[in-house]
Amino acid sequence: MSALRHFVHLRDRAPEEILRLVDAALALKAAPPAARPLAGKSLAFCFMNPSLRTQVSFAAATHSLGGLPITLNMGSGGTWGMEAAEGVVMDGTAAEHLKEAVPVLGRYCAAVALRSFPAGKSWAEDKAEPHLSAFRRWSTVPVINMESATGHPCQALADLMTIQERMAPRGKNFLLTWAPHIKALPTAVADSAVEIAALAGMNVTIARPEGWDLDADVMARVRASCAANGARLTVTDDPAAAYAGQHVVYAKSWGSLRDYGAPPPSDAAFRAKWMVDAAKMRRAADPLFLHCLPVRRNLVVADEVLDGPWSAVIDEAENRLHAAKAVLLDLLAPETAASAVPPAAPRRHPR
Ligand code: CP
Repeated sequence: MSALRHFVHLRDRAPEEILRLVDAALALKAAPPAARPLAGKSLAFCFMNPSLRTQVSFAAATHSLGGLPITLNMGSGGTWGMEAAEGVVMDGTAAEHLKEAVPVLGRYCAAVALRSFPAGKSWAEDKAEPHLSAFRRWSTVPVINMESATGHPCQALADLMTIQERMAPRGKNFLLTWAPHIKALPTAVADSAVEIAALAGMNVTIARPEGWDLDADVMARVRASCAANGARLTVTDDPAAAYAGQHVVYAKSWGSLRDYGAPPPSDAAFRAKWMVDAAKMRRAADPLFLHCLPVRRNLVVADEVLDGPWSAVIDEAENRLHAAKAVLLDLLAPETAASAVPPAAPRRHPR
């Protein structure tokens, strides 16, 4: 029996495969397939926390490809509460173990997808991604990661699509800037954003306050991709200077891994230093502004940027739909996915 093909982390695939998925998504956006390659197939989309874009884009993508999307809110009235740990006495709130639930879903569905946020108490425990790992371990059908503690790969595909369609061939310099928030959010989106920018050959700058470094394993992968592509990697705690010469400004709030779970400082000067505003954007090279959404206006980014000519956040969100189609076809109808991509070599950012 052949090994199951999943779409869980960017790091699981060769860079060429990721870039081909982005090309497939762009091709599917230009020419949606007339055929219904998922006809007769049901897919389970399991959410352990709220979602707008991921939930709707995957459901719409599945429907448009002829399949039936089944969305499950896990443990919040939608299904039984789920246990991921093995060997535990299940006398808490979880009434069902993923060891049964995941293979049961596989008897009904052609693929299962999971959105699971980290608990925010221990980075070591969250980094192990217990729920996603259980899905991978117990699933008999392909697993899709719809955001976990260490990655949001479907978001990253949409991010690179947006850069390719709005900035190519000059979108070469990528800035990820940390942004203020009221909560310690996961690093997942930031992790995947810099990983895909680096593997696409962009020069990557990460601006973050001292103490907000991304995980060392993420940084090692980004460093390796930049080295392989002859690109620069810069890490700075000076946000104003970091904008100079950037073509893409990607804002994201995330919690400190050093002071794990603690909310970021809320004083006005700190927030003003790190919020994306027009003055900072004007230091860059006619840049594109990206954010995965949802975004808190005038905390993460000023109205003038989000409503201004720089912003591509609605296109970026639309691209989640086309990226979802590319992932579904890659896993469930690879012959359709391959035929969507023009024969030309996958695009890389020119140097
Ligand atoms: N960007 C993103 O994943 O949005 P949702 O949390 O609304 O799905």
